[in-house]
Amino acid sequence: MNLDLRHKEYLRLMGIDVWLSKDSDSPVSPHIEDVSHAGQTGSLDELRKKVSVCANCRLHAGRTQTVFGTGSYDADWMLIGEAPGTEEDKQGKPFVGRAGKLLTAMLSSIELKREEVFIANILKCRPPNNRDPSADEVAACEEYLNTQIRLIKPKLIIALGRIAAQNLLKSEVPIGKMRGKLYHYGEEDIPVVVTYHPAYLLRSPKEKRKSWQDLQLAVSEFKKNI
Ligand code: URA
Repeated sequence: MNLDLRHKEYLRLMGIDVWLSKDSDSPVSPHIEDVSHAGQTGSLDELRKKVSVCANCRLHAGRTQTVFGTGSYDADWMLIGEAPGTEEDKQGKPFVGRAGKLLTAMLSSIELKREEVFIANILKCRPPNNRDPSADEVAACEEYLNTQIRLIKPKLIIALGRIAAQNLLKSEVPIGKMRGKLYHYGEEDIPVVVTYHPAYLLRSPKEKRKSWQDLQLAVSEFKKNI
């Protein structure tokens, strides 16, 4: 589908709370299993094991399980959200609730499947009552995310929402001012695009127009680097 048609499709879908995949009438399923990574992924699997028994902060006490992240260990695109919610904590996978369905549809609008990208969060454990992560919880989890990024070596990162953007980029600028610009992460200068969190887009569907622009920025930056 060309860009204009995809944009029209995107706009057509604005204002409804579940986006549909391009190819089907059914809501996009966020239930993606991990891809198998035999051979080259020892370190990420080791990290996954380490994270699964982490007790570095208070959140370990209330979790059902850690949520390491899902997708391809070879992903060119990495998406980073905030923290697991109730459903993610139950299933052990990121973005499996309503926001996850929207995220899957957003990816589909730029012709990406969940299994091609890697989706992770700033925190690997659910904060109680969906409260914001505290600074010490983010600090306790930070090295896990840094290591995930170092091992996956994505060509582009999308930060989903304020918590992800501010913590990843060490910024206190409000999300509305951060989006629409290009940032870089780490020594490798990995391009980072900031956009609204899908849960926010569910509450404020009018902002989907801006998130489409952010996704276009991400695609154009990605294309420059391949
Ligand atoms: N919101 C997030 O930021 N991450 C998830 O995994 C689910 C909801």
